[in-house]
Amino acid sequence: MGQTLGDIAATLIGLSGVAVIIGVIFIRRGDRVWHPRMMLTATALAALFLVFYLLKWGLYGTTRYVGPQEWRGAYYLLLITHTLLAALNGPLVVWLIYNALKGRFNVHKPWARWTVPIWLYVALTGWVIGLVLRHYGESAGSIRF
Ligand code: HEM
Repeated sequence: MGQTLGDIAATLIGLSGVAVIIGVIFIRRGDRVWHPRMMLTATALAALFLVFYLLKWGLYGTTRYVGPQEWRGAYYLLLITHTLLAALNGPLVVWLIYNALKGRFNVHKPWARWTVPIWLYVALTGWVIGLVLRHYGESAGSIRF
């Protein structure tokens, strides 16, 4: 069950990244109707990711990396940058949506240029971390000999 929740969370964060890319394509084409719709969908998917992630965390605890030793450093670098940027992404997205809804697109645009790459990094690394733990993860709460 813990694995399933983790898989669902990884899928949701990956899908939110796809929705962001589609949202950017819409605004590049000048579509001011479907751009907000797609970005709000991406936000909902990211929020759902958080729900599933926290549910997994609360019910099953964290998952430890038990894969090849030579990949350990790279894995933790990915995990730390993912977590820090994910925490930063939350307030950035709230700020972006707030300014967009107020019609302040002169503020929305420059912040959006920073937020989109951060979001895509978080989504991609979240998906990769989920994939890595699927193969090389072990419940941190399990008994070890
Ligand atoms: C988290 C959600 C959002 C993200 C990541 C996002 C991202 C972006 C990006 C990357 C651009 C293009 C900036 C550029 O030209 O370089 C943009 C422009 C724009 N966004 Fe968003 N957006 C979001 C939510 C919204 C919402 C909710 C609305 C509407 C209520 C909106 C309306 C617009 C409009 C109208 C533009 C064009 C502004 C202009 O060209 O003057 N966006 N957004």
